[in-house]
Amino acid sequence: MILYAAISLLLGAFVFRWISHNAKRICTVNGRRCEDPPMRPEPWYTFGLRGQLATVKASKAQRLPLRMVQMCDALGETWAYSLFGTRTIITRDQRNIQAVLATQFDDFGLATDRDAMHALLGTEAIFTQNGPAWSKSRALLRPSFDRAAVADLDRLEIFFTRMKQRIEETIPADRCMDMQTMYQKLTMDASSDFLLGNAVGALEEEGKDDGSGLAVQTFTGAFDVAQSVIAIRWALSNLYWVYNPRFFRDACSIVHTQVQRYVKRAIQLRTAGTPQDGKKKRYVFMEVLSESSQDPRVLQDQVLSVMLAGRDTTASLLSWTTLCLARHPEAQKKLRQAIRETIGDRIPTQAELRSITYLRWVLHEVLRLYPPLHANTRCATKYTTLPYGGGADGSSPIALAPGEKVIYSLFALHRRKDLYGDDADSFRPERWGEERVRKIGWGWLPFNGGPRICLGQQMALTHASYFVARMLQTFAVLEEDPKVVGQPVTFDAKITMYSGNGVGVRLVL
Ligand code: HEM
Repeated sequence: MILYAAISLLLGAFVFRWISHNAKRICTVNGRRCEDPPMRPEPWYTFGLRGQLATVKASKAQRLPLRMVQMCDALGETWAYSLFGTRTIITRDQRNIQAVLATQFDDFGLATDRDAMHALLGTEAIFTQNGPAWSKSRALLRPSFDRAAVADLDRLEIFFTRMKQRIEETIPADRCMDMQTMYQKLTMDASSDFLLGNAVGALEEEGKDDGSGLAVQTFTGAFDVAQSVIAIRWALSNLYWVYNPRFFRDACSIVHTQVQRYVKRAIQLRTAGTPQDGKKKRYVFMEVLSESSQDPRVLQDQVLSVMLAGRDTTASLLSWTTLCLARHPEAQKKLRQAIRETIGDRIPTQAELRSITYLRWVLHEVLRLYPPLHANTRCATKYTTLPYGGGADGSSPIALAPGEKVIYSLFALHRRKDLYGDDADSFRPERWGEERVRKIGWGWLPFNGGPRICLGQQMALTHASYFVARMLQTFAVLEEDPKVVGQPVTFDAKITMYSGNGVGVRLVL
């Protein structure tokens, strides 16, 4: 009896929601009638589970981004699937992406799955906020990203030198190694140095303490564990809270304890109002941020948020760039020559790096083919529309109800042949010198667009340019590890997209 009542109640709520949602849907936009997008084909009685299973399988086989391309090729630039009656729209139409991120910004917010990050980042983190709270965070963080501050190349050289030493200490006799893990350590040290004022020592020996009381491997290990659990929680969408293992809580607590020391120090320095030890003050993000807020919670959450946003994405860009250069010796040769002509063997300056057009083209091309955030999600916050994708030919608007999700695949967008030509899947940096591609606008979005555009874009490009230039200046040979030549590219695409097979290269000084 109780079971029947519960089922009837659930069904009643479902029908009521369906009717009220549809009653309020917007029907026309500027005289254009809204229509539904094509649906992923699936019998009704599987409730969308068959398609989701295929998605999970593709993810396990490390080909999820490619599945997005195949689905768009088969169904259209915009399509949808339904899981237990809840519809999600998928798009690689730049007009829809522009609407979601910019022209109809107020109609969309972050999807609730971002709450999966609260345990690590807290509730004051820009990365998880919407509306006025996000605007406040953005205004708080923006000044700290001033261009002069992010171009502290002397600091980058310290970490490049450490990485080179680490490579020389650990490289086997055949001189082949996986550079992906090395870049993850490099960017962890460079970002913690910039954000906290102290590198966490990821590039150092295991377990070594740097004397500051910061157990070096503990922070990196804990941060990595926390991130990998967040990726699983993210995949669980609204049900993220069911996965909250003890080791995740412990990892978050280790990260928080370490960061709190730096928060305390920044606040003390601010209160004392004097530079440390009378030395020339170097830029430390946490300390600059503390000029605007002395709330320890805000400082901790925002700094962790920026660390999460910037560390893996930059490591991913460096990894894919190295893989592309190793696989395309002709592009590598051109880049080496451009670097030699402009910089020679000296340590590069910011101006020199900026002046190397081919370096910019290479990075643009890598970000096109392998965007570190390969897909992203937004959620309608009110009754609204997407401008295109409805109807048989995709030319009609689509009506959305509050709560409906839109997933946009940058990976699929960046491989559209109508935008980039028949060789869209190929690595060809020269295309960035062509008029059509230079004017691509919303067709190239590795850093997103609109009011939430990446705050660290300049910094990421500077760091990547610097490290790529230094790698080519330092290693006379950078080629694919002969053991992995011809292996297909696979995609470890959880939060940040890495190469599933790592980046196996042979490096000779
Ligand atoms: C290649 C490297 C990078 C890529 C591809 C990248 C990409 C992105 C993307 C796509 C977003 C939008 C996320 C969203 O709204 O859902 C974003 C946001 C953000 N990024 Fe980056 N990012 C990179 C490096 C960095 C670095 C180095 C930093 C800072 C040190 C950084 C800081 C941020 C912040 C703070 C946001 C949040 C902006 C907001 O919500 O208003 N990013 N990034």
